[in-house]
Amino acid sequence: MEKKLKSHGAWIGKWTFILAATGSAVGLGNIWGFPYKAGTNGGGAFVLIYLLCIVMIGVPIMISEIIIGRRAGNSPINAMKRTAMQSNTSPLWKLVGWSGITAGVLILSFYSVIAGICLNYIFIAALPSDALSSSDQFGAVIASPYNLLFWHTVFMLLTFLIVSAGVKNGIGRMVKILMPMLGFLLIFMVIYAMFNGAFIRTLEFLFAPDFSNVTAETFLSAMGQAFFSLSLGMGSIMAYGAYMPKDQKVVPTSFTVASLDTLVAMLAGLAIFPIIFAFNLEPNSGPGLVFVSMLSAFNQMQFGQIIGAFFFILLSIAALSSSISLLEPGVAYLSEEGFLSRKYSALAISFFAWSLGIGTALSFNVLSEFNLTPGRNFLDSMDFIANQILLPLGGMMIAIFVGWFMKKELITNEVGYVNQIIYKLWRFFIKFIAPISVASIFISQIL
Ligand code: PFF
Repeated sequence: MEKKLKSHGAWIGKWTFILAATGSAVGLGNIWGFPYKAGTNGGGAFVLIYLLCIVMIGVPIMISEIIIGRRAGNSPINAMKRTAMQSNTSPLWKLVGWSGITAGVLILSFYSVIAGICLNYIFIAALPSDALSSSDQFGAVIASPYNLLFWHTVFMLLTFLIVSAGVKNGIGRMVKILMPMLGFLLIFMVIYAMFNGAFIRTLEFLFAPDFSNVTAETFLSAMGQAFFSLSLGMGSIMAYGAYMPKDQKVVPTSFTVASLDTLVAMLAGLAIFPIIFAFNLEPNSGPGLVFVSMLSAFNQMQFGQIIGAFFFILLSIAALSSSISLLEPGVAYLSEEGFLSRKYSALAISFFAWSLGIGTALSFNVLSEFNLTPGRNFLDSMDFIANQILLPLGGMMIAIFVGWFMKKELITNEVGYVNQIIYKLWRFFIKFIAPISVASIFISQIL
């Protein structure tokens, strides 16, 4: 006999899921993470491997997560358990949900620190700048633990407030207006960069792959980034899938979300690198890339203070629509089990993530010499454990589950009518390509 769990309700209209899932996918990963990772991993070859990972691994897994989530209507832990039991296999598949929730908390802890820097930059961009260059400005921002902790706290509080109010009201409405605005502003920044920066050099850097420096590490990093950017492997999309209306088509929806996400990452690269090259800044300068390059563009632009502040407001909102999806799976679990109310569940998990985030905030300054894992400081370790281990591992297990263990009729019921060729292709990718690619990237890392 299955236990009765508290229901979460469903979203109204098909756009709410698309917007919420796109809101989850599009975030710091696209605008902060993608350009700096492409920059540190040599550019074009990384971009190409990243795109392959999106198509061959990302989209098939996104379809699978939505199917499991919507089928069960529960948090990832219970959704995995329920679907496994209905498929007459071990309820231990719920461990995939647990690993997802763990990854979510780890990611949220550092995500909030970086998003806090975005909040801080709203004011930095808006106020008249003093003599500091944009890279010195970034240096000053991260040198102060109190400053980072303050903004980290503000951002985490905002995340907590939205999730505790319930996903349906807050998120759906917010992303509807703000996401398109972010899109327009990014296009504006690309046009600005086209005329004022080293655009041709950027095109070469991003799209002319040079495989001479590609290592196993490049593959792992591109794959981790693909999972992170599409919010896969940790149950966010599964949790959102639980609120998706039954008549919405899973396959086209997944393609829409993945395409929008990829588009935003590319636009971010095209907006940022022309400025980096034009000012002779280093493309591989790491996490500060977006802050340094965008600020130096705004500092020279007419109305730069207004446009700059607006840019960082939108970036913070994009981060917020992602951070709530990091918190949601854990909150959905605690509240559906009846352990705690939604509000206290959100409070407990966000407080835990906030505490862990202190380590990341300090890794920029007082703890910069401290390595949590060999060769990696606190932020890099969190990023490594979550993005490059837990997310791909979670994704691989989801692929194996749907490809090999989930009952066929449960799957076809959820997928609904779909072109047979596309369906067969998806089955092939989820059964073989996705698990084998993730496993071989892992193995090549160890060897
Ligand atoms: N996809 C988000 C981004 O690119 O910023 C981050 C993220 C959200 C990762 C939710 C994972 C997740 F489950």
